[in-house]
Amino acid sequence: QKPIDLVQTLHERQVKEVPARYILPSDQRPSPPLQVQQSLPVIDLAGLEDIDQRFTIVSKIAQASQEWGFFQIINHGIPLSLLESVKGVSQDFFHLSLEEKRKQCPVRPGIHMLEGYGRFFDISDDTVLDWVDALVHYISPEWAKAVEHWPKTPSTYRETYEKYGEEIMGLIEKLLGLLSEGLGLDPNYIQTLDKEPLLQLRINYYPPCPQPDLVNGLRPHSDGDLLTVLLDDGVDGLQVRKDEQWFTVVPVPGSLIINIGDLLQIVSNGKYKSAEHRAVANTNENRMSIVMFLSPQDDVLIGAAPDLIDEAHPSLYKAIKAEEYGTVYMSQDVQGKGPLAALL
Ligand code: SIN
Ligand code: FE2
Repeated sequence: QKPIDLVQTLHERQVKEVPARYILPSDQRPSPPLQVQQSLPVIDLAGLEDIDQRFTIVSKIAQASQEWGFFQIINHGIPLSLLESVKGVSQDFFHLSLEEKRKQCPVRPGIHMLEGYGRFFDISDDTVLDWVDALVHYISPEWAKAVEHWPKTPSTYRETYEKYGEEIMGLIEKLLGLLSEGLGLDPNYIQTLDKEPLLQLRINYYPPCPQPDLVNGLRPHSDGDLLTVLLDDGVDGLQVRKDEQWFTVVPVPGSLIINIGDLLQIVSNGKYKSAEHRAVANTNENRMSIVMFLSPQDDVLIGAAPDLIDEAHPSLYKAIKAEEYGTVYMSQDVQGKGPLAALL
């Protein structure tokens, strides 16, 4: 069978029509965005050291995690110049020729799933493909990093992502503390589930699409991890589902987007929501999202925090090892909220 071109190649070839493998059945096409927009909570992290302000921030985060499963943060402490460098080195890599990208980062079996540069998630021959190419690799811990498979061009890629990885781990540590407190747990609770979790990077690259209404940029899914941190490039495309409706996430300059993963929904005994989300394609602009996934290591057992279980709130999910959840997640057509439902 002839391999299917990556979407960046289709764009460079200036195809006027989307190939059949990308076209969704008419009832699955992205519906037009709502007229009246509620917007994702934007939470200012400045003032975390002050007890009163911290209390307010914790309530906002807890509320957003319950209602949306998503929020944007500003004054997160990561230098904006670093965010710009991260976007810059990522753009530079995607602007290399196809051959060069493939040579530097071939798709290969990784720790849990395929890693490298290319297309992911075309699980079976009849799966409709997403209008996205991606680069996937681990950032930490050291043993998972496989730095020999990271891009070598631009030459600053490695130091930029090593620095960003450190900053993101620091931020995640703070957020897990706030999220634990928001559940009424010890601030260290979530973090002590695994002291050396895995941090994985996925850079999504969406070239302009001639018929964006017929395709998914990235199919509807919830994330199978604990917590996700997303950096956008100012072009909108991310949509979150809430109350059975899709909402467009409006990019906020300098912000980061945080979302609750399936594993944190389990730990919180269903209090925090791992929301379904998707990316839509557009006609005119390239869009890039830089996503960091935090997951516990394979042998960590994930179940509802004991303090969140009582007679009125029985445990909603069977406890499961992180590795086993990964298998369940990947074996389903990663669409909608299927994998989590399997644990009920
Ligand atoms: C994702 O769900 O991993 C990315 C969505 C986006 O591109 O904004
Ligand atoms: Fe996602």
